[in-house]
Amino acid sequence: MAHHIVLLPGDGIGPEVVDATTTVLDAIGEFSYQTELIGGIAIDETGTALPDATLEACQQADAVLLGAVGGPKWDSTDPRRPRPEQGLLGIRKGLALFANLRPVKPLTALLDASPLRREIIEGTDLLVVRELTGGMYFGKKERTEERASDENAYSRPEVERIARVAFRAARRKVTNVDKMNVLEVSRFWREVVLDVHAREFPDVTLDHLLVDNAAMQLISAPSEFDVIVTDNMFGDILSDEAATLTGSIGMLPSASLGEEGKPGLFEPVHGSAPDIAGQGIANPLATFLSAAMLLRHGLGLSAEADALESAVDRALEGGLRTRDLGGSANTDEATKAVLEQL
Ligand code: IPM
Ligand code: MG
Repeated sequence: MAHHIVLLPGDGIGPEVVDATTTVLDAIGEFSYQTELIGGIAIDETGTALPDATLEACQQADAVLLGAVGGPKWDSTDPRRPRPEQGLLGIRKGLALFANLRPVKPLTALLDASPLRREIIEGTDLLVVRELTGGMYFGKKERTEERASDENAYSRPEVERIARVAFRAARRKVTNVDKMNVLEVSRFWREVVLDVHAREFPDVTLDHLLVDNAAMQLISAPSEFDVIVTDNMFGDILSDEAATLTGSIGMLPSASLGEEGKPGLFEPVHGSAPDIAGQGIANPLATFLSAAMLLRHGLGLSAEADALESAVDRALEGGLRTRDLGGSANTDEATKAVLEQL
């Protein structure tokens, strides 16, 4: 039976890159698709960023492919107004997607696109494992006229399960990133990571960095990292920083995974890029690479995932450059270039 994929194109360039990706997926295997609303477009059409029908469809799916959510049209500091991002946060929580995997591996063909010198990024191949359903993002929120707060809390099982994901993914070592010199929640986080390490993964090398230092090391010595494990907020920031290493955030895929056997969600790390939406010029490669993660982690089709990743690699080696990479290829041309390599 065809694997069932729910598509959540969302806002901005989301629909364009998701569309391009189904063309590529169709060249790889047999999939059935169902498109649902999320984000700003869902607010416009239904009044909420995550309609019940969307969450239900995703719960029934084999995997979910998301484009992007958000845009200036829906930006507001008024806590009563619905926000597109609530769609994304709601689906992460609704599908219990606690583990966000963001691999960062600058492609050889693009080494010179990085703002950093080639010698610094050469050999970089790291994975950010970000906790995705806890911490400040989901803590109790309070707001009065004069004061506002977001609780930053983690429970032991929440830290244990994300630590396990990181230790299992490690090839050389795990670097735990926290702010234990200041935050109680970080001291607890570090203790639990140390515990899981001692009890279950004593053979994996584990080291620790404070988040400010980690931000610096990511730029000065990115190839030193293997797996970085960190909380929701720090992971959000560090993964954007790590994305810059590749020269374009338009290149980076991500996977958000829940418990074994439950559908995962796959999305490019870049946002909705409202400034270029609707023009057919968005770089679809991050979404292609997210589809590769979907094939591998979501559907267990690793040979197909390898084929897609290598097709993207070869298209770039063949000279494919979208605008964000300093070239002129549009979305269609980028899609064709990858299809030709498949
Ligand atoms: C990300 C994004 C989201 C986040 C936003 C859009 C809510 O920045 O996936 O990194 O902060 O998690
Ligand atoms: Mg982010």
